[in-house]
Amino acid sequence: ALDDNAMSGFLNESESKKLPQAIIIGVKKGGTRALLEFLRLHPDIRAVGAEPHFFDRNYDKGLEWYRFAVSILLEAPHSGEAPAQRDPHHNTARCQPSAETEKQTDNCARSHRRQQLLGPAFSPITSSHPAVLMELMPKSSEGQLTMEKTPSYYVTKEVPARIYTMSKDTKLIVVVRDPVTRAISDYTQTRSKKPDIPSFESLTFKNISAGLIDTTWSAVQIGMYAKHLERWLQYFPTEQLLFVSGERLISDPAGEMARVQDFLGLRRVVTEKHFHFNPAKGFPCLKRPEGNSKPHCLGKTKGRTHPNIDPEVVQRLRDFYKPYNRKFYRMTGHDFGWD
Ligand code: A3P
Repeated sequence: ALDDNAMSGFLNESESKKLPQAIIIGVKKGGTRALLEFLRLHPDIRAVGAEPHFFDRNYDKGLEWYRFAVSILLEAPHSGEAPAQRDPHHNTARCQPSAETEKQTDNCARSHRRQQLLGPAFSPITSSHPAVLMELMPKSSEGQLTMEKTPSYYVTKEVPARIYTMSKDTKLIVVVRDPVTRAISDYTQTRSKKPDIPSFESLTFKNISAGLIDTTWSAVQIGMYAKHLERWLQYFPTEQLLFVSGERLISDPAGEMARVQDFLGLRRVVTEKHFHFNPAKGFPCLKRPEGNSKPHCLGKTKGRTHPNIDPEVVQRLRDFYKPYNRKFYRMTGHDFGWD
């Protein structure tokens, strides 16, 4: 039997585990990983490295699962892109002996121990002794903002209502990028995993001679930003959403980060001092303002070379997106300059 002190201690601890107050909800290939990594430099933010996919794939597991998954993932060693589909508590694959820093090695050891204690079939909250949970949970101090990113949220029908149900005050951030480049980036990613897929050009059209664009192809559909935004605005006022320009996140990361920190109500801690443009990579990389350690760039899967696409097809896509872009500029009050 549990003694009362242990149980009340557990409950306090559990209550102090925060659900995310701000979420990066999209868009896939917009620059969401870059934004998350930039935000992780801020001492007042605790951001989950992996993508929990709670509101789209794991919703039936309940909010307590989410709370716990977020707390576990906050502690997980993190090196770039999280494998999609993975259950948050199955972290062993992330725990490579190649951990670069001492902190990562520490995290790895802790993560292994957690796995041993909890077991692979561990179901958060219900199957563990509170004392075990208390020991394992990371503490986030008062005033810290908990965040996660799952880019598929932006385009998943059910998600706005679900986030609203968790908290109508949740701050929502969307990184958007020229939908044509985004579609090509999306295709490039898919092709890197499945090299035999048909050409971009053939996937773009339902009927190539009639010039009918296939709006059911997700690479095309995700870029119809205005259409997806309508669903969010049924639940949240525009002021609660921040649209980050994927282009500016590359050309002026500090400027875009100032907007994000203001939106989150945080001090502007992440500034020019944290960025170093790497000409070979063609992207900004991160550096510590103090000390002279080497700047850290995102992994190889970020900033891939895109294939050349038939310019006529690119133009057709530009024409297709134009009305959606116009509408999106009107809805957000911001011209992103894609046309
Ligand atoms: P490409 O690989 O097509 O260039 P996401 O993280 O949402 O999947 O977005 C990936 C995109 O982030 C990359 O797409 C790249 O253009 C963009 N990006 C933005 N800032 C970056 C940075 N500092 N380093 C690498 N990629 C960055």
